Amino acid sequence: METFRLANGDNIPVIGTGTNTYGKEGNQYNGELNDDFSALQSAIKAGYRLIDTAISYRNEAGVGKTIYESGIERKEFYLTTKIPAKEEYIASKELVEQTVLQSLENLKTDYIDLYLIHHPIEDKDQLKQTWEVLESFVEQGKIKAIGVSNFSIEQLELLKSFARIQPVVNQIQSNPHTWNNEIIDYLLKNDILPEAWSPLNKVTEEQTAKLTEIGEKYGKDWGQVLLRYQIQRGVAVIPKSHNSEHQVSNLEVFDFELSKEDTTMIESL
Ligand SMILES: NC(=O)c1ccc[n+]([C@@H]2O[C@H](COP(=O)([O-])OP(=O)(O)OC[C@H]3O[C@@H](n4cnc5c(N)ncnc54)[C@H](OP(=O)(O)O)[C@@H]3O)[C@@H](O)[C@H]2O)c1
Repeated sequence: METFRLANGDNIPVIGTGTNTYGKEGNQYNGELNDDFSALQSAIKAGYRLIDTAISYRNEAGVGKTIYESGIERKEFYLTTKIPAKEEYIASKELVEQTVLQSLENLKTDYIDLYLIHHPIEDKDQLKQTWEVLESFVEQGKIKAIGVSNFSIEQLELLKSFARIQPVVNQIQSNPHTWNNEIIDYLLKNDILPEAWSPLNKVTEEQTAKLTEIGEKYGKDWGQVLLRYQIQRGVAVIPKSHNSEHQVSNLEVFDFELSKEDTTMIESL
């Protein structure tokens, strides 16, 4: 698996698997937990090693158990989880600490590769307090890297103004519906890795047809074209699928390169 180099020197796989509907009834985000992690098992079998979960997904423990039971060494995986920007998790330093310790327990690990703040924390003092706790876990070696998700440029500027340890990732939506190009340009210039959530979602039939046409030149499907486009411009991707064939094909994006003409076409979708 190819990797991107983070500002802290760590390597992160350029493709990971999302997990937000894994272990849930009807493969629905809000579905009851049912302990069915067969989709994560097949993702691991296909070769995914970056696994993206979150406390809000309610499935950290099932994700941790599935990874543990895979029998693959912990160091082969790159685990990301996220603390919700909600009072019950961030109202005090102690709550943030408890949240991180719970993630470590759920994920059955003594370190987490990347811990993100899931959404912007509007109150500056609360953001600072949360970040300081995350920094202290980095200093203890229990978290390797810290970052954010869904932060705007202004929110990142604020965080950067007081952070002792700078954020290395901003996980944001990026797909033909919402490319988020302005923030992606800012992140690339500031050595913060943009990581695209929902990279294959919200694609219209018309866009799918255009991407399919581009893919025909390379013997690739529309999803592979979209994922390749993001990786080629320096954006990590975390597609999620319950279909083992899709999981495999979404990883087969390293044997072709989109031409300038085609990337321009994709940008204009
Ligand atoms: N930080 C945040 O706020 C945030 C927000 C949303 C999501 N996320 C993360 O990002 C991950 C990915 O986002 P997502 O799950 O919303 O969307 P996504 O991965 O972009 O798209 C998922 C959809 O695409 C389909 N799909 C996947 N591969 C395909 C292929 N090769 N061909 C055709 N269809 C394909 C899946 O259906 P099949 O199952 O049938 O393949 C599913 O319906 C999440 O799981 C989560 O970990 C983070």
